[in-house]
Amino acid sequence: MAGKKKDELKELKIPGHVAIIMDGNGRWAKKRFLPRSAGHSAGSKTVEQICDDAWSLGIKYLTVYAFSTENWKRSESEIATLMDLLRKYMKNCLERSKKNNMRVRVIGDTSRLDEDLRESIQTLTRESAVNTGLTFTVALNYGGRDEIVRAFGKMLSDCSEGRLSAKDICEETVSKYLDTADMPDPDLVIRTSGEIRLSNFLPWQSAYSELYFTDVLWPDFDKKELIKAVEYYNKKDRRFGGRNEE
Ligand code: IPE
Ligand code: IPE
Ligand code: MG
Repeated sequence: MAGKKKDELKELKIPGHVAIIMDGNGRWAKKRFLPRSAGHSAGSKTVEQICDDAWSLGIKYLTVYAFSTENWKRSESEIATLMDLLRKYMKNCLERSKKNNMRVRVIGDTSRLDEDLRESIQTLTRESAVNTGLTFTVALNYGGRDEIVRAFGKMLSDCSEGRLSAKDICEETVSKYLDTADMPDPDLVIRTSGEIRLSNFLPWQSAYSELYFTDVLWPDFDKKELIKAVEYYNKKDRRFGGRNEE
């Protein structure tokens, strides 16, 4: 079992929700003198494997950052490659979600995506909604600030139409207007490839998450690395602003 005895894994406290910033596809390809597209393609296979690994460890929610609102700054050809991969990914994901009982969600502003991609996202989320296994969320054209701005817009329009009153707005209200409504906040956020930043990923939701950074490039990330991140999480004393008495 990825170099760990079953009993050792049993003793680990498993985070309910793990969120991953899948970074380093380009550098992975560069190291191999391959085009960046080869890195993205290898990275998309890693995502499939990590869903199974996460579920086998007992993780209930897995959220991955696939394309940020800032990634539109990349070259047209890289964006086209990424969108093509996402298209294929969403199609395969439908079959996989049926096989492994996975519920799939997408967060982010999907209105900017091509119609066929939006349609396959709709089919996938609708058809997998009843599944009771891993809740797998793909952040696609996602930016935390953009998500908060869109939430403000929806709150304002609900206020002006009488569905919401300004005096009732509290943290729970804001959470409900975010794309992640009804999802628990991530317990653990992982970023691969050595960068120590969140790059606009779940800023509201990760206020009290444990953060784990590894130099491993995303296409090389595997179950062994996921277990390392969970072990790191186990060493943390989560106080949420309070004090844990000995
Ligand atoms: C992450 O890999 C994938 C996306 C952001 C879509 P990168 O493409 O950012 O890889 P690096 O950071 O250039 O190595
Ligand atoms: C973050 O990676 C976005 C995704 C993994 C989708 P980037 O490679 O885009 O982030 P920066 O540019 O290094 O901050
Ligand atoms: Mg990057």
